[in-house]
Amino acid sequence: MVSEQMLPATATMGAIVRDCYGDADTLRHERIARPEAAKGEVLIRVRAAGLDRGTWHLMTGKPYLMRVAGTGFRGPKDRVPGRDLAGTVVTVGSGVTRLAVGDDVYGIGRGAFAEYAIAREDKLARRPADLTYQQAAVVPLSAATALQALTDQGRVAAGQSVLVVGASGGVGSYAVQLAKALGAEVTAVASTAKLDLVRSLGADHVIDYSRDDWADGAQRYDLVLDIAGNPGLSRLRRALNPKGTAVLVGGEDGGNLTGGMNRGLRALMLSPLVRQRLAWFIAKERASDLERISGFIEAGTLTPSLDRVYPLEEVPEAMRRLAAGQVRGKVAITV
Ligand SMILES: NC(=O)c1ccc[n+]([C@@H]2O[C@H](COP(=O)([O-])OP(=O)(O)OC[C@H]3O[C@@H](n4cnc5c(N)ncnc54)[C@H](OP(=O)(O)O)[C@@H]3O)[C@@H](O)[C@H]2O)c1
Repeated sequence: MVSEQMLPATATMGAIVRDCYGDADTLRHERIARPEAAKGEVLIRVRAAGLDRGTWHLMTGKPYLMRVAGTGFRGPKDRVPGRDLAGTVVTVGSGVTRLAVGDDVYGIGRGAFAEYAIAREDKLARRPADLTYQQAAVVPLSAATALQALTDQGRVAAGQSVLVVGASGGVGSYAVQLAKALGAEVTAVASTAKLDLVRSLGADHVIDYSRDDWADGAQRYDLVLDIAGNPGLSRLRRALNPKGTAVLVGGEDGGNLTGGMNRGLRALMLSPLVRQRLAWFIAKERASDLERISGFIEAGTLTPSLDRVYPLEEVPEAMRRLAAGQVRGKVAITV
């Protein structure tokens, strides 16, 4: 079903494109053909898009193992980058039942750095009424990762102590708020310049990793979310209670070939041999998590920490800022 009145007569659109893997200099603004929704998909008029580390990895093509997993071996399969988005459904493909033309949605799509993008119906939810498009667009991947790390993987319970390492970034800024909303006592680890941010997110305690060692054993935690910094497994375990859980979420500098994957695999192999539990996971992309996250947003316990908004043409500049570690929380692209 296509609502022609919602689509302009011209079948082209403005988009950020790239022809090869590389840094932000590979990205340029062009007019290209508008995509079409296939079965189970919708076409979205993108109002805003979100940036995250995963999108940066898809731009650079590193770690290389990712290419084998299907992103394109020699060059990127998807010419238009961008995953997180918020906007309005303008056409629906066959088999789509939950969404209709005109619905305001947010979620995970393909080619979000463009005026129109495609998304599967089962990766979208209705945009929470309290959020602007820009705020909604920075939620999906990072908040869903934080939620899965805390609940599915970390099995967090009210009253537990939770340490969030990498609390000032995309995933971390949601993890701090969600852990608080789930009743945990939260300690947030960040750099000096971002301690004020993690405090404002509701952290009960903060640790400046440039001054203090969160793994010196002075304080131990029921759950550690290891989002950044690549601590060794023995170091990670030193921060855990005897029966505590560490969830390995991410961390850069894991090498060009496998990234953080070998550390994750080693954690999975070690876990059955020790009393503490070590978990590693790749976040799932599903509408049910977005709906749960919308519940926290509507209850007022989760607010996107939006640092800056860039116009579509300035995606390369936004990517550079993300790669340089300058972003506090999240950055959005307005389309
Ligand atoms: N497993 C999954 O499915 C999954 C899903 C999403 C993301 N990830 C991964 O998770 C990681 C974080 O993603 P993100 O989107 O949150 O990235 P991000 O927005 O770039 O945030 C990373 C944060 O790490 C902090 N950091 C850097 N070095 C640190 C250190 N030594 N100790 C503590 N904190 C440090 C930085 O804050 P400061 O400036 O305060 O140091 C930065 O804010 C990435 O590696 C990403 O690939 C994994």
